[in-house]
Amino acid sequence: MVPAIGEPADAAPAPTPLAVPVPVPVAASGTQPDHLDAVVVRLRAAGCVFAEDEATLLLEAATGADGVPDLPELERLVERRVEGLPLEHLLGWAQFSGLRVGVAAGVFVPRRRTELLVREALALLPGPGGMPARDGGGPVVVDLCCGSGAIGLAVVTARPDVRLVAADVDDAAVACARRNLAPHGVLVLQGDLDAPLPADLRGRVDVLTANTPYVPTGAVALMPPEARLHEHAVALDGGPDGLDLQRRLAAVAARWLAPGGHVLVETSERQAPAAVAVMAEHGLHARVVSDDDLDATVVVGTRAPTPGRPRSDLGGDGTRRD
Ligand SMILES: C[S@@+](CC[C@H](N)C(=O)[O-])C[C@H]1O[C@@H](n2cnc3c(N)ncnc32)[C@H](O)[C@@H]1O
Repeated sequence: MVPAIGEPADAAPAPTPLAVPVPVPVAASGTQPDHLDAVVVRLRAAGCVFAEDEATLLLEAATGADGVPDLPELERLVERRVEGLPLEHLLGWAQFSGLRVGVAAGVFVPRRRTELLVREALALLPGPGGMPARDGGGPVVVDLCCGSGAIGLAVVTARPDVRLVAADVDDAAVACARRNLAPHGVLVLQGDLDAPLPADLRGRVDVLTANTPYVPTGAVALMPPEARLHEHAVALDGGPDGLDLQRRLAAVAARWLAPGGHVLVETSERQAPAAVAVMAEHGLHARVVSDDDLDATVVVGTRAPTPGRPRSDLGGDGTRRD
């Protein structure tokens, strides 16, 4: 499994690459439990920490609707996993916010820690009893740097009334996000940061989420090979201090946010004070939310509400009332 990207500056040294054990073809075994055992042995020998879980998922992926495993396909999956491909790229999906989100080669595998960003985004959405949306429609959410579209998918699944626009610069990510989000009628655009957003969204976005790349350039080489070799560099490298994209985002966020609207970025605990300062420089009221269990840190920047029209979910200083 792709390890969670931890504190980027403290990224753990790359673990020993997966060793390539002498392959014992899974076809050599007989019954389904035998296939599973054979796969577990090979994955364990290759250094997979969750060999049993991974073997079960790979066997499931190679098993047709008739319940019969396609052994050549299972062999192919096991070989590629032993070579070090991320489990999620082999399965074609990642578990995120209780959903199976489609992922494809090169696309950033959504991390569990990003569920904090989703949780905060949902909590900040105008909802039943909150301020009605400006034109009577649902709340407007924009997800920039959308990758597979995982954040948007979790948001629209929880709040089908949301009108979501997602965007990313990377071809593979955009194609993947379109596959994940098309069934929900979501527009997925391609381009640099906010450049592809339609002008009519200006000043109308209730929540802007962006899990920008935030690993400092110098720490990318220290990332586990599964991320470093199999996720596109554009998804990881956040510039010299990891905050390049967050600076650019903070500079344009107020242009898109509705009065009292929020921009949410994921960051590391170490980067959070700098990320807060970046938002404050651009007139946003910024605060940090963290979750120790998820090892997650999110910075929320809030545009001041229009005087005389306070949002029901905001205090006078633009912070959320809990
Ligand atoms: C850390 S990944 C996050 C993906 C997804 N939001 C998630 O949480 O799983 C960062 C994403 O930002 C995209 N990205 C990097 N630079 C970008 C830019 N200048 N404009 C738009 N997207 C960019 C990458 O292609 C990648 O998909």
